[in-house]
Amino acid sequence: MRSNGLEYQQQQPDSPIRRRVLSWLVGLINLGVIVGFIAPVLGFISSPARRRREPGEWVPVLNAHELKPGETRAVTYSLMVKDGYTTAEHRYSVYLYHRSDGTILAFDPSCPHLGCRVEFKERKQRYVCPCHGGVFDTEGNLVSGPPPTGLTKLPVRVDGGKIWIQRV
Ligand code: FES
Repeated sequence: MRSNGLEYQQQQPDSPIRRRVLSWLVGLINLGVIVGFIAPVLGFISSPARRRREPGEWVPVLNAHELKPGETRAVTYSLMVKDGYTTAEHRYSVYLYHRSDGTILAFDPSCPHLGCRVEFKERKQRYVCPCHGGVFDTEGNLVSGPPPTGLTKLPVRVDGGKIWIQRV
């Protein structure tokens, strides 16, 4: 039987240092596998797509001096919304009504019947739903039609010369 240096080295028992290094390597590989499985789950749970804009957030929508007493105005505003891993600009709208007593009302334009967007008719001073004919007065109260309730009122405040609404 021939013997050379290579066979001699292979027959040597593993040194404690070598065993420790291999054990660390195996541990690192296992850790990588575990992180590889857990990271996507954590990513999904904490995904921005699951964190839409917070309800209750206050948003400035108009300079206060632009809304005259007695006026109803549709206002659109934009918010940057994280959608998945991108951020995109989303547009929203709200109706503002400046009452004669100086207070301001804000309405979600979604009809409480099936969600169509109501339109304010200046001459009639009424909100009208184009889908099934729901009608609401300037205070958002139901006048006629199938909607079960009046328009959804949003909290409003005037601060720093701006009209702010609270999103719901
Ligand atoms: S959706 Fe507005 S009346 Fe039906």
